[in-house]
Amino acid sequence: MALLSFDAYGALSDAECESRIRAARRRLGREVVLLCHHYQRAEVYQYADLTGDSLKLSRLAAETDSPNIVFCGVHFMAEVADIMSRPEQTAILPDLAAGCSMADMANLAKVERCWRELGESLDVEASFTPVTYINSAADLKAFCGEHGGIVCTSSNAGLIARRAFAQRPRILFFPDQHLGRWTGHNMGIALDEMQIWDPDLPLGGLTPEAIARAKILLWKGHCSVHQMFNKRQIDAFRARHPEGIVIAHPECNFEVCAAADYVGSTELIVKTIKEAPTGTRWLVGTELNLVERLAREVAPQNKTVHFMSDIICMCSTMQRIDPQHLAWTLENLAAGNTVNPIVVPPHEAELAKLALTRMLSCP
Ligand code: 13P
Ligand code: SF4
Repeated sequence: MALLSFDAYGALSDAECESRIRAARRRLGREVVLLCHHYQRAEVYQYADLTGDSLKLSRLAAETDSPNIVFCGVHFMAEVADIMSRPEQTAILPDLAAGCSMADMANLAKVERCWRELGESLDVEASFTPVTYINSAADLKAFCGEHGGIVCTSSNAGLIARRAFAQRPRILFFPDQHLGRWTGHNMGIALDEMQIWDPDLPLGGLTPEAIARAKILLWKGHCSVHQMFNKRQIDAFRARHPEGIVIAHPECNFEVCAAADYVGSTELIVKTIKEAPTGTRWLVGTELNLVERLAREVAPQNKTVHFMSDIICMCSTMQRIDPQHLAWTLENLAAGNTVNPIVVPPHEAELAKLALTRMLSCP
């Protein structure tokens, strides 16, 4: 059947989308699997077959048998699904505008320039293991694959950093300075042994001496959602609720992580609060959709969940995946058309897979 244009979907209500999404899913049966990140909005999350944080979703993408993987997340996650799935499977992102602003803070040209500049003052291949957070484009994962590097996620960064240090004495960590700093701190690395690499300054804004002294170079990148949380919000919560417990995602800044009782990935946040004793009260520093869903789910056990910030902060790019785009994607699939396939070029995919497989095979 001819390609169905999105024009006819934009004006549909969520309720109209619901019946069409359910009908398309019935027609497609096992031909499609829907993977959903924890930050996905409720109107989309309800259709998920499988949910998780980025580590869990990358494993699920490698394990599923379905020929079509519709990824309700952001672009780098759909790329990982394409890289880790079999060649005959297709990863689909319902809206190509669903990117990750943090991932966009590093690109291949800038990372290659950094690598070149580091090479001017030391033997870079022997001195640095490049470690990329999974929140990065496929070509940066390929860069890591090619240069003995590795991918990490927010749930395994410590494990991956230990593996990286076993190989070479220093780490170049991109693109999230906060995850890198928190990971290094937990390994006992002093803050002044972790230097920020500013990709827009010559030699990252550092001297050759500072680079030689550093154990970790932290790319100057961050998440625009998690930068909304601060220690003042934690102090105010503790003053009002001295019995309250604070949990934060490691993309939050160092002060927030240091002041929290627990720091961990979205999966860890969900698990910790679901398994907590009844009657507990939580302050959560991560994206609002996750926090609101969790608050609803644990309310029957008399647990109270507060959002850390007093202003709304959502992952606006993840919000691009809405019922309208999902209906359009699934009805096209049912009609035999694949819209928005995510296809990583084969050479890049092979090298990126190397860096991802190094991560997934870490014990
Ligand atoms: P998780 O690995 O915890 O799912 O985090 C991914 C992410 O993008 C958080 O902002
Ligand atoms: Fe990227 Fe931040 Fe959104 Fe996570 S919350 S996907 S890091 S922009």
